[in-house]
Parts: sequence; C-alpha cells; structure tokens
Amino acid sequence: MSEPLIDVVISQREEQGEAVAVFELKAKDGSPLPAFDAGSHIDVHVSPEMVRQYSLSNDPRQHDAYRLGILNDPNSRGGSLAIHHDFKVGKTVQISAPRNHFPLDLSAERSVLVGGGIGITPMLTMAYTLRDAGKAFELHYCCRTRSSAAFLDELASEFAENVQLHFDDEADEQRFDPIKALAPVADTHVYVCGPSGFMDWVIGSAETAGYDKHNVHFEYFNADIDTSGTAFEVVAQQSGVTVMVGEDQTIVEALSAAGIKVDVSCEQGVCGTCLCDVLEGIPDHKDKFLTEEEREDNDQIILCCSRSKSKKLVLDI
Ligand code: FES
Repeated sequence: MSEPLIDVVISQREEQGEAVAVFELKAKDGSPLPAFDAGSHIDVHVSPEMVRQYSLSNDPRQHDAYRLGILNDPNSRGGSLAIHHDFKVGKTVQISAPRNHFPLDLSAERSVLVGGGIGITPMLTMAYTLRDAGKAFELHYCCRTRSSAAFLDELASEFAENVQLHFDDEADEQRFDPIKALAPVADTHVYVCGPSGFMDWVIGSAETAGYDKHNVHFEYFNADIDTSGTAFEVVAQQSGVTVMVGEDQTIVEALSAAGIKVDVSCEQGVCGTCLCDVLEGIPDHKDKFLTEEEREDNDQIILCCSRSKSKKLVLDI
C-alpha cells in the first residue's frame, strides 16, 4: 500500500547562485511535519505523472518546515524545470514523509563531508547534526564558480570553522584535492553527494587512500546508465505473466506493455522505488542504489535499469 502523502504549502522561495531555487515547505494544516534525520530526502509530486526525490537541507531540529535546494538543470528530464517554473509561494504541493538512504554514522570520531554543486544539500543537514553532537567534521563544497554556488552565506555564518570552498575557476591552491582532504585519519567516515562523475572520483580517491568501504557513504541523485543489452525472459510470479525484455527495453517497460504496473520515480536506478525481490535467476545490476553486499546477494533487483545475466529471471511481482 502506498504511504499517505502530506499536503504542504510553499512558504518561501529564494533564488540563490545562478540556478538554484531554495524552497521552504510548511504543512498546509499548520501542524508539525514528520521528524527527519541527516541525509533524508522526500518525494515531491511535481505533477500527477512526475515524482522526484530531493534531499532536505535544513537543520533536522526544525520541526515546522522542510527546506529544499533545487538546481534548474537543463539536462534534467523535466522535474527541476517544472519546479522552477511552477512552484511559487502559496502553492500547495504533495510530498512523501522523509526517508533516509544516506544516514550519518554518529559513532565516528570524525567526518569528512564532500558536496559537489547541488550535492551540498544533504551535507548541510549532516553539518547541523554533527555540530549539535559535538563531533569533529570538515565540509568541502566544490562548485564550478563562486557565482553558481548556493548557501554560501549560511555556510559562512554557521560553519565558518568547518567549511572549505573549492571553485573550478579560482586559484590552484583552493581546488579540491582528494589526496589532501581524504588523507587517512583514524575513525573517519567520508560522505559524498554530487554529479555522478564527481562522486565516482571522490569515492575512488577514498578507496585509494585506504578507507574501508563501510566508512565511505554516498548518495547518487542521477546516473548515466546504459540500460540496453541482450534480451531475456522475465516471469512475474504473482501476476502469472511471462514477458520478453527486448535489447532496448527495460524490465519496467516490458512489464508495463503486458499490463503490469511498476511504481517508478527517478527511472535512473538511484531512488529504490522500483526495487523487487528476485526468486530465480541472476540479475545484471546496473543501478546506483543497492550496496555491494546487496548486489552480491542477487535476491533483489532495480527494475528501471538492471537486466539479467541468466536467460530467465523470476520476480516476486
Ligand atoms: S525508479 Fe528510481 S530506482 Fe527505479
């Protein structure tokens, strides 16, 4: 059963940087919103056909509002464009309760937070939480240019001692250097969010620096995935239907053509909405959602992008 949605009103909107709109959302009936913790995101129902996930970016101790920072990305599939165009102060919007696939480990002595571009948003919630818990942390904010960056005033007023800014077009000395930033220090956890190429670079650097993979945390918000491959058969066990997934088709598309609706949201293998149990066969995982251990178990699959290594997959759907 789908979770009940929450009606919220856009109580504030502020443009920051060159292309970021910062929205404050409050419950339409004035009640407190469900609590959230650092790294959480919500689903935003942009229109009846379009649901997008965005990280919360305010102090998790604030209970009467959620704050989102949304980049108007010309390469997006239309969500951010529609939000920038249509989401005005006073508009009512439906959202999900917060969920967290990117939690903070507060048992670590020290944390290094790395936000690339709009990937700064979950890092803000983490910075508030780490400061509140009295934990040591550094926050690296990497942007193309100073003028494209959002939240600069807040970072300066709240976290001046913890923040290091890095701009691609400024002096070499201030550029982000993963070897320096990720020099191994005992009991340190690394968190990264940003464009997928940037994240791959930071995660790879942390691995090279010798970090245990359990101490490197990340959340992709988009992914450039080639979903094509060899055709295979999918048996939808609960529905009693068998379909062929063509070379240029996703499992979601093949099931939909046979009348089986799969809930999807990002359609890029990053949000987990279309996760399904595998009863038989070996998935060819292409998503950025499952952990390495979960992939190795081969008992779950992300249906919007992953394929099959075996000729047949039996799914619990
Ligand atoms: S719809 Fe987001 S992972 Fe498939």
